[in-house]
Amino acid sequence: MYGGLRALRRELEQESWRNAKYTILLDENTFQHCLPLLISSVEALQEAEFIEVPVGEECKSLEIAAQVWQTIMEGGADRNAVIVNLGGGCVCDLGGFIAAGYKRGIRYINVPTTLLSMVDASIGGKTAINFGGVKNSIGHFYPSVLTVIDPVFLETLSPEQLLNGKVEMVKTAAVAQPTLFEQLIKENDIRKQQIIDVARIKNAVVRRDPEDHGIRKILNFGHTFGHSIEAYLRLPHGIAVGIGMKIAMYLSVKKIGLSEEVYRAYSQWFSESFSTLQIPTFTLKDIEQMLPLMHQDKKNSDGEVCCVLLQELGAAMIDVEVSDNEIRGAILHLGK
Ligand code: GLY
Repeated sequence: MYGGLRALRRELEQESWRNAKYTILLDENTFQHCLPLLISSVEALQEAEFIEVPVGEECKSLEIAAQVWQTIMEGGADRNAVIVNLGGGCVCDLGGFIAAGYKRGIRYINVPTTLLSMVDASIGGKTAINFGGVKNSIGHFYPSVLTVIDPVFLETLSPEQLLNGKVEMVKTAAVAQPTLFEQLIKENDIRKQQIIDVARIKNAVVRRDPEDHGIRKILNFGHTFGHSIEAYLRLPHGIAVGIGMKIAMYLSVKKIGLSEEVYRAYSQWFSESFSTLQIPTFTLKDIEQMLPLMHQDKKNSDGEVCCVLLQELGAAMIDVEVSDNEIRGAILHLGK
């Protein structure tokens, strides 16, 4: 048995979990590839109910949340009910949202199964569903009581899914730990210790600013642009954020003095890593359609797009206003 799951097994044997009634929330993929290992490793979960939700963002809806509430209520779930989220970021976001609302809040455990969710979504208590066509528009800050990171689940992922997660690792390292950033863009393999390092950095940032009023915003580096690209082109989150970081680095060079060397090193890593993917070239028409999406971002104020830029590796500036023209210039520069 592996480290994270072993720790979970031991934890759930403790007195505080004695009356817990577990419901495992999962999707088709984690039902097939991850559930058998989880229940064979963690005795306390052998009798758990499980509920399958649609794969991906489709599960993050009020309708699905209501169906899960209905099911657990009919099953007699009380305040000792515990939701175990077995999946990627979407399952973790949804399960946290369900736990936050049920009987004014029940415990939940995140067992992230993608690299992306291990290093980002499963840590920090952001729970959400999509509503009114806007991603993550309804949700709470409601942390899991446990997040169990076990790299054994990475064996079930494709190289593309791993790369998606690696982008978030590179992002966290860029804003917080330059040496780790340099390692990550030099090495192809992802080491277990690097996953732990990134998860620890995220946890430390979140503890300083659980509700995202200040320092936590550094974790959104590349996301203002990345989210719009993700929505506009329907690209996977990691790849879109990777492009978003390139835009943010370019703006950082132009506006606040990030060295061109960092921009070039990152760009080279990004193009080599994603060489098999057709990274789009954006036209002015594309940009005009993406700008309104950027203006919708939760981080903006006074109608200006506000984003995180880098003065140098490990030194991020939050709430930097950028004009539409600066954004146009940065996006058009992507192909050069
Ligand atoms: N994904 C950024 C955060 O959790 O704040």
